Amino acid sequence: WGKLALEGKEKGDMKKVLVVGSLNMDMVLSVDHHPVPGETIIGDGITYHPGGKGANQAYAVGKLGGDVRIIGCVGWDNNGMILTENLAQAGVDTTAINRMPEAPTGMAIIDVDKKGDNSIIVISGANACLTPDLLRKQKASVEWSDFIMTQLETPIDTVLELARMAKKADKCMILDPSPARADLPDELFPLIDIMKPNEKELSILTGMPTETDEEIKAAADALLEKGVSKVVVTLGARGAMLADGNEKLFFEAKPVVPVDTTAAGAAFTAAMVNGLAQEMGMIQAIRMANGVASIVVTRHGAQASIPDRDEIDDLIWNY
Ligand code: RIB
Repeated sequence: WGKLALEGKEKGDMKKVLVVGSLNMDMVLSVDHHPVPGETIIGDGITYHPGGKGANQAYAVGKLGGDVRIIGCVGWDNNGMILTENLAQAGVDTTAINRMPEAPTGMAIIDVDKKGDNSIIVISGANACLTPDLLRKQKASVEWSDFIMTQLETPIDTVLELARMAKKADKCMILDPSPARADLPDELFPLIDIMKPNEKELSILTGMPTETDEEIKAAADALLEKGVSKVVVTLGARGAMLADGNEKLFFEAKPVVPVDTTAAGAAFTAAMVNGLAQEMGMIQAIRMANGVASIVVTRHGAQASIPDRDEIDDLIWNY
């Protein structure tokens, strides 16, 4: 169901994807379990990986063969250069990355436990420099794009301004509302074409429980009522659910043994949008996204875990 859609497509034939968002250097600590307050534990080791929710999305679209550009901010430092170079190697257009002398590149400290579950602390650094003013200066990239993806690791005023610019320019606007917050401005919801929370984020966004399928459906309806056009909820090992106002469809994920779930959400969103940019329908794009996320969780690291287009073609044939 996916191979034909990807096969033979070259960048000139594809719709263009703009990612606006964060770039972080991830310091990943392997631990037996996450420490509780007051507890000291001995970790198994530290590794450094390119990350950031925005950069992870852009990297994934690039690896999957899409035509993608990122707007974001890094510091005038070594980490900023490493992150930019890593994106360029995946085929991402990095010309709209701003190097800010006044702040260091963002960092994330990530604990990954034996089950592959993580907890993350982000130090925003230069990501906080992506102001609405700076974004408006990069209007040409908004106009260049067909699909625009963002997350919530950059200032909320910038996210709102981006959504306004996207609506005015008639682009498809996708929000991965991570890290989730309960205080998103009401004006934002009707500007979003596709919102992609996981179950926990859905609960934070709506203030509603999301333990059961019925609760998840009701919380997704609450987002639709606020004006979002389509909601795609990722359900971890269970797959995903699409709610578009007419129906709710569940998509099962392939069973795998996870080692590190970092970047699974970003990879899902990126693969879904990349599928849409390559003219798949929503259902086909979500199936593709489920497949990509099922690979990501079996590997360590954020960008390091994202498969390329050939692996996806293999996956599709062997699904
Ligand atoms: O979702 C994973 C990402 O969250 C990491 O790469 C980290 O940088 C934080 O942004």
